[in-house]
Amino acid sequence: MRDDLARIMEGFEAECREVRDEPAYGLLRERYLSREKGLLTLQLKRLRDLPPAERPAFGQEVNRLKAAIETRLDELAGQVRLAAYQDRLEKERLDVTLPGFPVARGTLHPVKQVEAEICGIFQRMGYAIAEGPEIETDFFNFGALNFPPDHPARDAQDTFFIGDGSFLLRTHTSPVQIRTMQAVAPPLKVIAPGKVYRKDTPDATHFPIFHQIEGLVVDEGVSLADLKGTLEHFARECFAADARIRLRPSFFPFVEPGAEVDVSCFFCGGRGCRICKGSGWIEILGAGMVHPNVFDACGIDSERYTGFAFGMGIDRVAILRYGVPDIRMFWENDVRFLNQFHRF
Ligand code: PHE
Repeated sequence: MRDDLARIMEGFEAECREVRDEPAYGLLRERYLSREKGLLTLQLKRLRDLPPAERPAFGQEVNRLKAAIETRLDELAGQVRLAAYQDRLEKERLDVTLPGFPVARGTLHPVKQVEAEICGIFQRMGYAIAEGPEIETDFFNFGALNFPPDHPARDAQDTFFIGDGSFLLRTHTSPVQIRTMQAVAPPLKVIAPGKVYRKDTPDATHFPIFHQIEGLVVDEGVSLADLKGTLEHFARECFAADARIRLRPSFFPFVEPGAEVDVSCFFCGGRGCRICKGSGWIEILGAGMVHPNVFDACGIDSERYTGFAFGMGIDRVAILRYGVPDIRMFWENDVRFLNQFHRF
C-alpha cells in the first residue's frame, strides 16, 4: 500500500507536467483532491481494510501526500495563470505604429461656416453674440419694430402663424434687437445669427427657411457714418480687400433712414459680369438708423441715444461665395454636395 502512494505521487508529477491551461488544471485538481472521488479520498477509504494498528501510520502517509499535492497544485496554479496572461498579451499584441483606417468625418454645413466667418469679423470689432427664439410673438417680430397693424408682412400669406395665431415663426432676426434692448442698457453692440422663416415657394433662390445675421449698435452719438464705416470694413474682410459699398435709400419700418446696401461685385471687381447682372453691384443687406419708436418700445431714451441696425442673408452670401446654383442644395443633405465644403 505504501507503494500505491508512491505511484500516485509519480503519476501526479507526470500529469502536472502536461497541464498547460486553466481547464486542464481544474480537472487535475478535481482528480486528486475531490472530496468524493479524488484519488486521495479513495486511499483514506482504504483505512477500513487495514488492521487497526496500521491505520494511524497509513493515515499520516496519506495526509502527508495530500499536503504535498496541495502545495504543488497551488504552485502550478500560479504558473498556469501566468502562462495564460502571457498568452493573452501575445494574442492581443497591437502595433500602434500601423496606419489607421480612414473614418468618414462630418463637417460644418457651408451656411454655418459662412455664419461663423461673419460672426468672427464682427467679434473682432468688439460685438457680442445675441440670441433669440425662432418662435416669436407679434410684439417682438412686428409690433415693437414699428410695423403698422395692416402691414402686408403681418399677413398669413407671408408669415407662418402657430396655433391660434398668438405665436409665429420669426420672419427676420430683427426681434433679437428688441429682446437685447429690453435686457441690456446701452451702450450695446451685438450681432444675432439665426434661422428665419417666410412663406415662400421653394425655387432656385427662395426657401421657406433661411439664415440671417442681425447687427445692432446703440450708444450716444452713433451716426450713419459709423454704420457705413462698419459695413465697409465688413465687406473688405468678407468679400475683397478693395470692396466698396453703396447705400440706396429704402424702407423698413424699424429704421429711419433705411437703406439697402450693395457691395462692389467681388467677381468682376465692379466692371459688370453675369453674377452682378452687369451692374457691378451685389445687394447683400438692409440697414438703417434705429427708429425712435423702436427705442420707445424698449424703454430707451431716444433723445439721448442713437443706433444703427443691419440685417443680412447668410445663405445668399454662401451662394455667391461658393457659386451654388440652387439654394435648395443647402437642405438636401447630399454628401456629394456637402463634402465639397470640408475645411480641415
Ligand atoms: N429685418 C430686415 C429684413 O429681414 C433687414 C434689416 C435689418 C433692415 C436691420 C434694416 C435693419 O429684411
